[in-house]
Amino acid sequence: MNPHGEGFVPVRWRPQGRAGLELHSGPRSLALSPDGRTLYVLNRFTGTVAVVDVREARAGNARVTRQWPVVDVRSREQRRLGQVLYFSDVGRTGMSCDACHIEGHTGGVFFEKTRPMRIYRSTTALGSRDTPPYFTPASTRSLAETAETVGGRNRYHNPDPLPSEVEALALYTSLLPTAPNPYRGEDGAPLETVTLPDGRTGHPVKGLALFEGKARCMACHPTPLFTLDQDPSTRGQYQDVGTPIALPLRLEQQQLVTGAAPPSLVGTWDVWPLLTSATAGYAVQEDRLVVGSRFPLRTLLETPGLSHGAAQELTAEERDDLLAYLLTL
Ligand code: HEC
Ligand code: HEC
Repeated sequence: MNPHGEGFVPVRWRPQGRAGLELHSGPRSLALSPDGRTLYVLNRFTGTVAVVDVREARAGNARVTRQWPVVDVRSREQRRLGQVLYFSDVGRTGMSCDACHIEGHTGGVFFEKTRPMRIYRSTTALGSRDTPPYFTPASTRSLAETAETVGGRNRYHNPDPLPSEVEALALYTSLLPTAPNPYRGEDGAPLETVTLPDGRTGHPVKGLALFEGKARCMACHPTPLFTLDQDPSTRGQYQDVGTPIALPLRLEQQQLVTGAAPPSLVGTWDVWPLLTSATAGYAVQEDRLVVGSRFPLRTLLETPGLSHGAAQELTAEERDDLLAYLLTL
């Protein structure tokens, strides 16, 4: 048994100097009792709800009085360790994986990455398992290599992750699924009609025919994951499809290199902003970032000048059908 308490997965913390183990319970949701005396804390790493007596919290005396077990997390210890490593700021650098991929997902966070020096959108890591290589241009070829490279750099190599930590983090990341899709029926099948986020309507089945036919999307977004990276023989192609290379923000400080990989379109209904440059979603106004579009899929299909399939040749109604289909993926 772990001497620190039931359910804790210990993680090494900065062995140089102040060696020691760090314990994380993963507090996530808090609820205060109506009388303000008791705080309930859901601990996602340890699978408990902690009951905290906060009557004397102002004087610095908050006490955990009970721990209610909610789920038994010990049977999946490696995955749990991966989760702790994902969310914890182990190197005290302010850079956990969660700092940029919030809950594993994208959400408008940027990172200025070197080689080439440029502002990138933090992509979603949900469903990424089957679409290596990662990064633009390709620099890691598996989730384990990503966990090792990025995990080490995020802690400024203090300490570098152990092979067992790399394995646990890669396992946890590989099991991050895309969210359930609200644009499909209860049974997961496409609906007859879908109401688009801007209130228009479209027919997913007609959209499917357009995607595979007239709109010419399949060449670069083939099924089942809708990216060339899904197949070892077509992996790692970086193409110029006329999309902006970067946000028009301090361009003189960015190294502008064309080419991006066709991203997987699975879960694209839930991705904001779109494109490596994040320019479908964000816009720049006088050196400031603003929301340019809340329905970036439409923005992408209606931006003139993209050599990106044949979306421009569709009628307005056909475009709605194609959008309805994209939302169901
Ligand atoms: C400082 C921000 C930042 C942190 C911290 C960070 N990432 Fe990333 N991550 C990014 C950016 C930006 C990209 C996309 C860059 C590109 O396209 O070249 C990315 C891409 C990825 C991808 C590729 C996703 C795909 O499908 O293409 C994975 C997987 C990933 N990161 C995992 C992790 C893990 C695991 C950690 C923690 C060890 C982590 N990241 C920490 C910013 C970050
Ligand atoms: C010649 C290859 C090619 C064709 C054809 C193509 N795409 Fe793409 N697609 C790409 C590339 C490359 C990107 C990434 C561009 C970037 O990040 O700037 C992309 C990005 C996207 C994205 C943004 C996804 C995200 O997460 O950022 C969507 C949505 C998309 N394509 C849908 C379509 C649709 C719909 C069609 C058909 C009308 C289509 N694509 C045709 C190569 C292609």
